[in-house]
Amino acid sequence: MLFEGLTTPSPDPILGMAARFNADPAPDKVDMGIGVYMDDHGRAPVLESVKQAEAKLLKDQSSKAYLSSAGHETYNHHIRALLLGTDHPAIDRARTIQTPGGTGALRVAADFLQALKGACRVWIPDPTWANHRGLFAGAGHSVSTYRYLDAETGGVAFEAMMADLAPLGPGDVVILHGCCQNPTGADLTPAQWAEVGELLRARGAVPLIDIAYQGFGQGLDEDAAGLRLLADTQPEMLIASSCSKNFALYRERVGALTLVSQSAESADKALGHLLPVVRANYSMPPDHGAAVVAQILGDPDLRALWIAELTQMRERLIGVRAALAGAMNQTGGRDYGFIARNRGMFVQLDLSPAQVDYLREHEHIHLSRSGRMNVAGLNRGNVARVGAAVGRLLRGAAHG
Ligand SMILES: Cc1ncc(COP(=O)(O)O)c(C=O)c1O
Repeated sequence: MLFEGLTTPSPDPILGMAARFNADPAPDKVDMGIGVYMDDHGRAPVLESVKQAEAKLLKDQSSKAYLSSAGHETYNHHIRALLLGTDHPAIDRARTIQTPGGTGALRVAADFLQALKGACRVWIPDPTWANHRGLFAGAGHSVSTYRYLDAETGGVAFEAMMADLAPLGPGDVVILHGCCQNPTGADLTPAQWAEVGELLRARGAVPLIDIAYQGFGQGLDEDAAGLRLLADTQPEMLIASSCSKNFALYRERVGALTLVSQSAESADKALGHLLPVVRANYSMPPDHGAAVVAQILGDPDLRALWIAELTQMRERLIGVRAALAGAMNQTGGRDYGFIARNRGMFVQLDLSPAQVDYLREHEHIHLSRSGRMNVAGLNRGNVARVGAAVGRLLRGAAHG
């Protein structure tokens, strides 16, 4: 018997959060839970650039026949350039395949490592995106953590991170967030990227850059600066990227896995080993979302429209981060300047699950029980109230 006698699993925390938000009747409820970008009206709309690309596709697409395990070749070409920059010297020794979202890229990377090397030691930051551990442990790797957040400053605990990575060995894989670290919003400086790169290189460890928010931090090129720096110095690396957020294509499942090898020849060979991993899994990725992205990136007008829409999203995030920091600072607790200094959608606060429950039940502010807030749920109408409520709660806790 397969299904008899199973225990009842604990409910998915993310789905539970969404259900609680939907069930909250308060008119001024605030959704800071799931990692989706929302506009000033709390909506997650389809981008205008996507709408126009879809209209073109509907008119022009002539076949739905199978593609290959690598997916949409034009998309792969554009994504590689978006990540590395068109004139990066590593571009000739990089190969990209389309994957079902950033999650698909990470899972394919995990299976690829397993196929090439067997179980590896995979290092993930603490804290990190909730799915990293499950993805790599699920593919049979052993997962270790390195400290990442300095709770005092809200920035990167760089010394602790380097101390924890000291035991790195050859073939170890180190996951680094490309930008807008989820959940802290704290990113490495260029000097810190260089130092991490030196350590990895010296130890023969492989970086795996997970970049799910390119363009949400400081700009498309600025947000890729860390991975481009590593591509300069590392003989080999992997990059898992996502178009879920920056193209708002979440449910279309658009991502990519890029490998960088020592030479074009070895990159082609590695690609030859990667494709059977995909073939034996989902055979090939779904086309539509990637076809939309390829259409946008290949058309100068659509590309300019998309960049304008992305800029608007980024600037709104920067604005609400500053407003939240200001509102929380007014409550007279600690200095919350790090909220304005950090980037992307997320802020990690030192809130206990009980405090998160309190905010939900008494203030109708919904966030993850880990203390992670998605600031995209804030707008001009609610940021002062949220900042005051959260700041007061944290100050009360700090003062016993
Ligand atoms: C750090 C990080 N990596 C990967 C992903 C996966 O994104 P996707 O929805 O494209 O699978 C996310 C999504 O939240 C993320 O935050």
